[in-house]
Amino acid sequence: MKHLIDPMDLTVEEIDRLIELGGKILQNKEKYQEVCKHKSLATLFFEPSTRTRLSFEAAMLELGGNVLGFSSANSSSAQKGESVSDTVRTVSSYCDIIAMRHPKEGAPLVASRKIDVPLINAGDGGHYHPTQTLTDLMTIYQEKGHFDNLTVGMCGDLKFGRTVHSLIKAMSRYENVRFVMISPEELRLPDYIVKDVFEKKNIPYTEVSTMEEVMPELDILYMTRVQRERFFNEQDYIRLKDSFILDPEKLINAKEDLCIMHPLPRVNEISTKVDDDPRACYFKQVRYGKFIRMALIMTMLGVKANED
Ligand code: CP
Repeated sequence: MKHLIDPMDLTVEEIDRLIELGGKILQNKEKYQEVCKHKSLATLFFEPSTRTRLSFEAAMLELGGNVLGFSSANSSSAQKGESVSDTVRTVSSYCDIIAMRHPKEGAPLVASRKIDVPLINAGDGGHYHPTQTLTDLMTIYQEKGHFDNLTVGMCGDLKFGRTVHSLIKAMSRYENVRFVMISPEELRLPDYIVKDVFEKKNIPYTEVSTMEEVMPELDILYMTRVQRERFFNEQDYIRLKDSFILDPEKLINAKEDLCIMHPLPRVNEISTKVDDDPRACYFKQVRYGKFIRMALIMTMLGVKANED
């Protein structure tokens, strides 16, 4: 694994190994606390982030490594007009691995062609966010114990939500997974995902316009934020932003072992009254994100703990 740009760059076996290693680290953090000693991670974030950047940095620090980088384009020489490729090539001289987020689709792929250290795409516009997909998969595995035979509901902005597209593709590789798409008409899943994934692989899916009608069937409910930054028209965003708000009343008929996920940040789409429900897994998901990134950094750097 030289670079990680698209979650589908990973085989099912590679994902299984990462999730297994992430689980081992979670169980025994002390064993891994020096495996990246003298290694450095650079986090180059040209777009805002809380979870992804800080979990990458926490992951590397907890592996005994060092971190450097910037959290906005304004604090780098991008502000003076430096190209992304030149910035990344420069930083590659100071570190062993790079995690990079950029608002332009394809920017991490282009930057990765010029460097000798591994680069992880930490989100490129509406395109890919592979470490969120790994986080989501680790959450499902930790909470459910398997990927097969699940009914997965996805709710909210299914048009612009890159995490939704990647998770559908990743989950479509497992047996007997059903999908239920819950969104307003304007934010429906793009046709190419329906054609390339559901129709091509003969995967059952339904599209509905309310949560309540499908809630009793769901094993996973993946809520998403309406992505304001991807709208061309603010009026459309304001009209659609509160289309779906999950609250305790909507969960009355849900399964007792429903797993409620959200990549976060949330705005309004999950009431804070849901946070103490044992089915709310979105803050656990945040925590799993650090462990899967630890597993990914170790794997991409080719480092192991003794006896692994
Ligand atoms: N889930 C996620 O990517 O969050 P951040 O934008 O805070 O990194």
